[in-house]
Amino acid sequence: MIVTTTDHPSAVMLDTAARLASELGARLVQRRRRTLGQLAEQEGRRELLVVTSTQLRYYGGPEEAPFYFHPSMAYVRVKRLRKGEADPLITLSGCRPGDKVLDCTAGLAGDSIVFSYAAGPEGSVTALESEPVLHAIVREGLGNYETELDDVTAALRRIRPLLADHAEYLKTLPDNSFDIVYFDPMFRDPVHESSSISPLRGLANPDPLNAGTVQEAMRVARRTVIIKETNNSPEFDRLGFVRCPVKKTSAVGYGVIHVD
Ligand SMILES: C[S@@+](CC[C@H](N)C(=O)[O-])C[C@H]1O[C@@H](n2cnc3c(N)ncnc32)[C@H](O)[C@@H]1O
Repeated sequence: MIVTTTDHPSAVMLDTAARLASELGARLVQRRRRTLGQLAEQEGRRELLVVTSTQLRYYGGPEEAPFYFHPSMAYVRVKRLRKGEADPLITLSGCRPGDKVLDCTAGLAGDSIVFSYAAGPEGSVTALESEPVLHAIVREGLGNYETELDDVTAALRRIRPLLADHAEYLKTLPDNSFDIVYFDPMFRDPVHESSSISPLRGLANPDPLNAGTVQEAMRVARRTVIIKETNNSPEFDRLGFVRCPVKKTSAVGYGVIHVD
């Protein structure tokens, strides 16, 4: 992968590009007014990470649409919570202010943002992502993205993003050390993927959740282990979750295990 900037980069952008190239073991290349196509051809690499003044943009190839951090639906969901409306993930997980939440599949951190707002300043959300490029894009986004609402921006900043495989990380945790442990693996059936998740498919870890990992999550969780899947997915039964459809018309549902 190449890490570069837009044209006329600031010193901060150059520092960010150098830091990310070193972190990701990628080649740092000066832009010098070249198009992405020219860069990819001259450097012999298709994948590009471009540092702009406001965000990181990842291109799977110079002609592909960029992937970047944005709160998208999470922002809409948090605005509903602010108005006192319910969010199915918060209701079914039983998340309340002060809770410690472990999000085992961070992705774009949309669900982490909703948990972080619901758990509030006294709570905490740790967001695990196994894929280094995705983790870096989302970590920088959570640290820098400004929403129009200070309390929502604060919820983004409180999330602790970690580069880790959840199966390994859970084994290191003491019993009952989080209130809620959450899984949202890539759907077995991608047809029902949301428009915000499908762009990350090329970068994401597609592995199914392991039954042994669910057992570890039950040891680590004080109250709830919860998973998101397609409504009719056999994963709920295979992994021992009680299926909780959101609504009859929704393609997505949750599965819950209460451990208290
Ligand atoms: C469907 S996405 C999660 C979307 C997220 N809930 C959101 O709202 O943006 C699944 C993510 O989990 C990550 N993942 C899959 N297996 C993992 C593992 N063993 N450890 C950590 N992350 C994993 C994938 O790389 C992907 O980014």
